[in-house]
Amino acid sequence: MRDIAGMSVLITGGGSGLGAGTAQYFAARGARVTICGRRADKLAAVSERIGGRCHAVAGDITLGADRERIVAEAVRHGGGLQALINNAGNMYRGPITALTQDKLLEVFNANVISGMLLTGLAVPHLARDGGAVIFIGSVHTRRAFPGASPYAATKGAVEALTKVLAAELGEQRIRVNCVVPGAVFTEINQRAGLFDDETARKRLEGMAGLHALRRIGSPTEIAEAIAYLCCAEWTTGAVVDVDGGLGLGLTAG
Ligand SMILES: NC(=O)c1ccc[n+]([C@@H]2O[C@H](COP(=O)([O-])OP(=O)(O)OC[C@H]3O[C@@H](n4cnc5c(N)ncnc54)[C@H](OP(=O)(O)O)[C@@H]3O)[C@@H](O)[C@H]2O)c1
Repeated sequence: MRDIAGMSVLITGGGSGLGAGTAQYFAARGARVTICGRRADKLAAVSERIGGRCHAVAGDITLGADRERIVAEAVRHGGGLQALINNAGNMYRGPITALTQDKLLEVFNANVISGMLLTGLAVPHLARDGGAVIFIGSVHTRRAFPGASPYAATKGAVEALTKVLAAELGEQRIRVNCVVPGAVFTEINQRAGLFDDETARKRLEGMAGLHALRRIGSPTEIAEAIAYLCCAEWTTGAVVDVDGGLGLGLTAG
């Protein structure tokens, strides 16, 4: 296994939720972490909590100039780049009759296209001494949540492109893997304007019984899987469910 200590890691969407938890996890084990997101205040709070190993870059991954700046900053802060964690993502849901083209393009842009383009920018740096790219899928490809077709479609795309990029980049010793999380309480639904904080938490907690392990997960539990895939030198093209068994589709006896 490759060591986390000394690794330079870029995490998109590091100002909250799974990204913030992953930044904390990697920095605590000696990585130099660069986080990005659109809200500077959220990023500053995370990097202040973590300390000097964490560098915050405010930017929007759907914008080309921002993507270039974010990668350059990560390379500068970390003295190179060994892992790109394409974590940033947004929720968009609604009945099929109410979907708009603009919102669909927006969510595909954030959840799929930007991660692909960031990966392209990261490849020359990752190839220098072998590296890892992680995409974040979702249990939405395992269980059908009515109304969530836009989000599920983006996550299906992420699983597919993980495998193609693993095949494409293997020769350069770049491994590409995908973590498929289950229910973890974060800001994603609230940012989409779907629920307030309390309703979102109650709704998620209410899903505990659908998990084989009868509880929702934590950002740290997702970070553990991301860390494994960043370090496991012979694992590529893997799509790893880390969902407490939510994706199994538990039925009553
Ligand atoms: N929580 C779950 O239960 C769950 C389950 C399965 C998969 N996931 C996936 O996990 C990933 C992380 O989500 P999360 O649950 O941790 O939600 P979150 O707390 O809302 O984090 C998502 C982050 O992405 C950033 N982001 C969104 N659009 C961006 C853009 N254009 N440019 C830069 N940053 C952007 C957001 O920051 P700004 O708004 O400040 O830009 C936010 O900090 C997502 O890919 C999500 O689909 C989550």
